Amino acid sequence: MSYDGITQRVSDRYARAAATGEQICCPTGYNFDDLKTFIPEQVLKISYGCGTPAGLETVRSGETVLDIGSGGGIDCFEASRQVGQTGLVIGIDMTDTMLDIARRHAPVVARNLGYPSSNVEFRKGMAEAMPVEDSSVDLIISNCVINLAPDKCKVFREMYRVLRPGGRFTISDIVSDQPVPQYLVHDTEKWGNCLSGALQVSEYMGGMVVAGFLGIHQVKFTPWQVIDGLHFLSVTLTGYKLSETAEVDRVRFATLLGPFSRVMDELGQIYQRGKSRPVNAHAAPLLKASPFQSLFLLTDSPVSLEASDSRLCAILPEQVPCVWKGDYAIFTGPFAEAEDDDHHIFRRGIPLEICSKTLKVLESDPYRPHFAMINRATGEGSSTQVACSPSGGCC
Ligand SMILES: C[S@@+](CC[C@H](N)C(=O)[O-])C[C@H]1O[C@@H](n2cnc3c(N)ncnc32)[C@H](O)[C@@H]1O
Repeated sequence: MSYDGITQRVSDRYARAAATGEQICCPTGYNFDDLKTFIPEQVLKISYGCGTPAGLETVRSGETVLDIGSGGGIDCFEASRQVGQTGLVIGIDMTDTMLDIARRHAPVVARNLGYPSSNVEFRKGMAEAMPVEDSSVDLIISNCVINLAPDKCKVFREMYRVLRPGGRFTISDIVSDQPVPQYLVHDTEKWGNCLSGALQVSEYMGGMVVAGFLGIHQVKFTPWQVIDGLHFLSVTLTGYKLSETAEVDRVRFATLLGPFSRVMDELGQIYQRGKSRPVNAHAAPLLKASPFQSLFLLTDSPVSLEASDSRLCAILPEQVPCVWKGDYAIFTGPFAEAEDDDHHIFRRGIPLEICSKTLKVLESDPYRPHFAMINRATGEGSSTQVACSPSGGCC
């Protein structure tokens, strides 16, 4: 089907859902009791997101926030509360029925928040050609929309265009562990239900890097559905548009603290745990942002650390036999590639089969935020214990 055909069907699907208040879509995690205090029921009823990009307390007072595919307006209204009266929220959507509901409720929300007038503007437009000025937005949010767009790379380029240098995005969306096969891609029902249009994690994060974003990383992940062995996940991702001019910064060197033993960033620079290396002046502000600030020691002169230094973090696997149970780790951290202390090389977005021993390592607090875990075994997986040896290549 043509791109226009897909878009028309998606729009019809959501117009119908908004008109009937049908319940569709995915796991979110909203605190509805809190939202009910200022957002009308009709808006909450047509919340079709798969995360809470505006509820992550990343929104700051006075900011300009753009919500791509704003639907009935739930995240715009939450952002409206967070940016306060001095901030501005722009919601864009292609579906008139959604826009009508959102616009109708904007003055009600403003009154409930005690604002003299609404600070939310709903504009009709496409995610692939946003009716928004260049470099005018501090934060982009979006909730379960980009998977519905046939040309995701165009959406990523538009996001980069409208974001101001130094700005960021936080997006919740549905992604898959492997490429969606053609028989599902052409299933328009499943496309409208936020499944068939999902990109593989590696393609999604890689597409954002190609558009110019850096420091792309997972904030949250929730398993969603398994269809014909394909795992669909809800992920919330953040990334940054760096300023083009090098800022004067005292950060000149970075020492990787762990838990990874080695990482390669999105610019191809390699950091080894405990070893200091000069940082690119352009990228220095990135290392002060989340989650980098907790992974590196940032200094104005080189500081290398002994292996025994308490600031370093290394998590070694237990010296026990391992069991293969069908677990796969998908690295979703802020690097193109990362290595653990058992010589696994995790390439971002590519599932790597791991044994029970490695699963335990990756489920420890320092590693957990950087991975999405799936299990592909249809039964119990194996219970055979395998003796690991570094040369045996078992894990
Ligand atoms: C799954 S709903 C999510 C709505 C809202 N973000 C929420 O959390 O409730 C998807 C919304 O995105 C809109 N949408 C889908 N594809 C779009 C595109 N390419 N450009 C603009 N809007 C789009 C639909 O009209 C619909 O309102």
